[in-house]
Formats: sequence, structure tokens, C-alpha cells
Amino acid sequence: MKILLLGGSGLIGSDCKEVLSQEYEVISPSSKELDIVSWDMVIENLQKIKPNIIINCAGFTDVDACEKEEYLVKKVNVEGPRNLAQGAARFNCRMVHISTDYVFSGQKTLPRPYFEDDPIDPISAYGRSKVESEVAIKENSPNYIIMRTGWLYGKNRDNFINSIIKGASGKAKSIKVFEDQFGSPTWTYRLALQILELLHSDIRGTFHATSEGSCSRLECAEYIIKQLKIKTTLKPVSVKSHHFAAKRPVNCILENRLLKKAGLNIMPEWKDDLDLYLNQYGKDIIKESKAKSAKIKKH
Ligand SMILES: NC(=O)c1ccc[n+]([C@@H]2O[C@H](COP(=O)([O-])OP(=O)(O)OC[C@H]3O[C@@H](n4cnc5c(N)ncnc54)[C@H](OP(=O)(O)O)[C@@H]3O)[C@@H](O)[C@H]2O)c1
Repeated sequence: MKILLLGGSGLIGSDCKEVLSQEYEVISPSSKELDIVSWDMVIENLQKIKPNIIINCAGFTDVDACEKEEYLVKKVNVEGPRNLAQGAARFNCRMVHISTDYVFSGQKTLPRPYFEDDPIDPISAYGRSKVESEVAIKENSPNYIIMRTGWLYGKNRDNFINSIIKGASGKAKSIKVFEDQFGSPTWTYRLALQILELLHSDIRGTFHATSEGSCSRLECAEYIIKQLKIKTTLKPVSVKSHHFAAKRPVNCILENRLLKKAGLNIMPEWKDDLDLYLNQYGKDIIKESKAKSAKIKKH
């Protein structure tokens, strides 16, 4: 079985490449080799590669930049997935697409989670583009899986968890962390294993896929500094008082209701995976960050 993986250099894509390669032949062209916005490139590559499955981990993911670049965002986050979904239908491929908690407003009363069939009501350009991407996939590819996830961390690109580790182990005496944004930190490696689990089945549809349990950003940061024994002070701040270009959902908690119903949910409690991640990469992230600041000081 052959997989065409888009976005293989990204946070999710890089772990997907590693995990899925253990069972499938994974071909992952760069964005230069296959720009998903180009219909011709999509078709040429599908003709050449002849995959059984297309996995789209490509996207325009800078949420604030999306507010100013709505035209470009639509190209990458909507036209791109539409091209892939139409290509998947034409070449009879299964289609897997990654979506997000940002399709919701985040205004649901805490700690109630969002379910797959809750009404979508995005509050940012990024969120709107991901809603449209879901529509493009559903309308064009009969054999699709949409995985909505959020609060991702992994070893291959910057993310919230790595920033906390770097910030807390750096020179600053205290770091600011949001106390009123809630979600479920989810390891991209586990998400890749969850995708593998779904590929073993013939299931289709839209699924929520995040770790079990939830916390605020502040609770997550407190857990990290406790586990890594870092001495720093965390300063609670409100997401509402911070002026981002894009609005952020406050409640980002997703319930994996349909994965559970299908008996396919492999997501552990968020702390269990974070423990594994910190044990495996925590010290290296601190070392790397210290080496970087020493280099900057020298110059
Ligand atoms: N990160 C999160 O917390 C999160 C949460 C929920 C959902 N998602 C969704 O998951 C997907 C992947 O997110 P991520 O954070 O892993 O992304 P990322 O780290 O920002 O990487 C984005 C990837 O997309 C590729 N790409 C961008 N434009 C492309 C184009 N026109 N053609 C082909 N490839 C293109 C990039 O390639 P280059 O490196 O060559 O530019 C890169 O490999 C996105 O759809 C995002 O909306 C992410």
C-alpha cells in the first residue's frame, strides 16, 4: 500500500512520515515538488505515484498571519485540499485530512467539550478556512477521514510545550502563561499512531482526536516545570487581555466521541503522553535552548 503524504516537513507530517513508514510505502514530496494549490502538480504526482491513500498534513498554519493573508490562506487551506480531494476521487484513493478545534468559537461553557456534530462557528480567518477545507473534502472525496485535533506538540517544530520548556529554562525570572484557555495537549507522535489505527479500519467520516482530559495553558506549564524540576515563576495572564491579530477560542476541548463509539480511540490522558515526551526530549530541548542563547550572547 502506498501513501502520498503532503506536509511531511511539518509538525504533524514529520511524525506521520516516521510512524506510517513502518507499515506503508510513504512518498512525501516537498511543497516545491508538489504545491497542493496547483491542480496540474496534484494530477501529475497522482499519475506518477499511484497512491492508495492521500494524507494531507499541509496547511497555512500561522493563525495571526491568516488574518492579513486571507487570499493566500484560501489557496493553501481550501483550494489545496479541494484539489487533493478531487484527485483522490479521480484516482480512487482514500483521503485523510487534518482539521482543527478552531472550527468552533470556543464559547461553549467550560468544561463541556465539543462533539463532532456541534455547530461550527469559527471566529478567525484560519478557522473559517479550515471549515471550508472540511466542506471541500466532504463534497469531493467519497472515501474521506477528517481528523480535528488541537494543542499539538512534537519534536520537529516549535510549539507551545517546547516554548514553555525553553522559556522556563532560560534567563527570564518569570514567564507569562494564559490561565483562561483550555484544551488537551496532544503529542503528534500519538496522533500519527491514531491515524494508523484508522487506516487499519475501513471507517470514514469526521473525528475528533486529542488526548484525554483537559487543562489550562497555565496548568500545563505548571506540570512541565514540576516534571522537569525547573525553577521559574509562572505569571498567569488572560488570553482576553492579549492583542493577537486573530481571536483565539477559549474552550478548545474536543471529545473523541466517534472514535470511542467505533472502538478506535487510542488517545491516552494528556499527562501520560507529556511524561513520555518530557522524558524523551525535555533535557535535549533545554540543552538546545541554552546553547542557542550562549551563541547569541557571543555575537
Ligand atoms: N499545529 C497544530 O496545533 C494544529 C492543530 C490542529 C490542526 N492542525 C492542522 O494540521 C495541519 C498540519 O499542521 P502543522 O502544524 O503540522 O503544520 P506546519 O508545521 O506549519 O507545517 C505545514 C506544512 O505544510 C506544507 N505546506 C504549506 N503550504 C503548502 C503547499 N502550498 N503545498 C504543499 N505543502 C505545503 C509545509 O511545507 P514547507 O515546509 O515546504 O513550507 C509544511 O510541511 C494543518 O492543516 C493545520 O491546520 C494543526
